[in-house]
Amino acid sequence: MSWNFLNFNNQDILTVGTATVDIFLKTEILPNKSEGEGKLCFSLGDKIGASSEIFSGGGATNAAVSFARLGFKTSSFFRIGSDLFGQFILKDLEKENIISYPVKMEKEGTDRSLILISKNGSRVILVSRSKNTFFSKNSFSENGFRPAWAYLSPGNFPFPFLLSLSEELRKKGTKLAINPSKNLLSLGSKKLKPLFQKMSVVILNREEASLLTGIPYGNERDIFKKFDTLIGGLAVMTDGKKGVSVSDGKTFWRSGIFKNKKIEDRTGAGDAFGSGFVAGLVRSKESCQKGICGKENIEFAIRLGSANATSVVESLGAKSGLLTFKEFNSSRFKNLKIYSKKI
Ligand SMILES: Nc1ncnc2c1ncn2[C@@H]1O[C@H](COP(=O)(O)OP(=O)(O)OP(=O)(O)O)[C@@H](O)[C@H]1O
Ligand SMILES: [Mg+2]
Repeated sequence: MSWNFLNFNNQDILTVGTATVDIFLKTEILPNKSEGEGKLCFSLGDKIGASSEIFSGGGATNAAVSFARLGFKTSSFFRIGSDLFGQFILKDLEKENIISYPVKMEKEGTDRSLILISKNGSRVILVSRSKNTFFSKNSFSENGFRPAWAYLSPGNFPFPFLLSLSEELRKKGTKLAINPSKNLLSLGSKKLKPLFQKMSVVILNREEASLLTGIPYGNERDIFKKFDTLIGGLAVMTDGKKGVSVSDGKTFWRSGIFKNKKIEDRTGAGDAFGSGFVAGLVRSKESCQKGICGKENIEFAIRLGSANATSVVESLGAKSGLLTFKEFNSSRFKNLKIYSKKI
């Protein structure tokens, strides 16, 4: 495989990771409790009516569309099968002017998710993911490739591949952000430290943060203390409707969310927030591109990420609702209470 696609100019963002087809089936069934605790139950033998829609999904393509809508020249590297689903993803990205660099698997299908949505909007996701992880360190070209930022949303991409890619990109001056999967986090903090040390931004939800650090879910203080030893740059912990906490090791920020007009489907909130946050860092000030982010850069990034997530949960699909800068600049997204303190 040639890696010449990695010849970028400075304004570009590269996303790397999962690409799926997301099949949404909306049912009239109610869960027995709230999300996280409840169950969505079907009786064996039932045939249940549902309305459906199909979108492209996966962290790499969701983040790519997010960056593209926010005005970045965006490329995306992902894996698809040689099937109609793969073509569907490519067409979707083409519409958003994203340059795709797909690795095509000959024998396996494109990854897909079946998202069962209950009457109140909570969901169960069934994921069918290829185990094909054939990327190797030797695949890299020596040629200069230089996106300003790379956003990794790696699914089950292999650790050695991610480490090599990160090393190569860092050498070229590219800044890195990662929104790791549970699959990657299950390797444990000791193994992941060399990768996370290279990151300018690591974005995890609360459950993933607890899995990485081995510290109970509720103990945010100790989770962030551990982050400081593991993560080179900014640590970002998202917490669904409760909002987000961010630390650069010296200052700690916490923010709530922009209120929803309605919640249609929360798929893609994490991708919308993570990519919006990184876009906010890059766009808010030149200094951030040199790696020195001040208070106002981080607060701008939190506001953009939050607005993007709020907008996405108000419509069905992980890409529907991703904001342009013009939409972000509306009065709705002007004020978000962000609390900060020195650590
Ligand atoms: N219902 C919501 N309304 C508004 N904002 C939300 C909502 N849910 C999430 N967000 C915003 O999106 C951010 C990321 O959400 P969350 O913590 O659920 O990510 P995640 O668990 O990684 O999601 P995903 O399942 O998409 O990967 C939150 O920190 C919050 O700012
Ligand atoms: Mg997530």
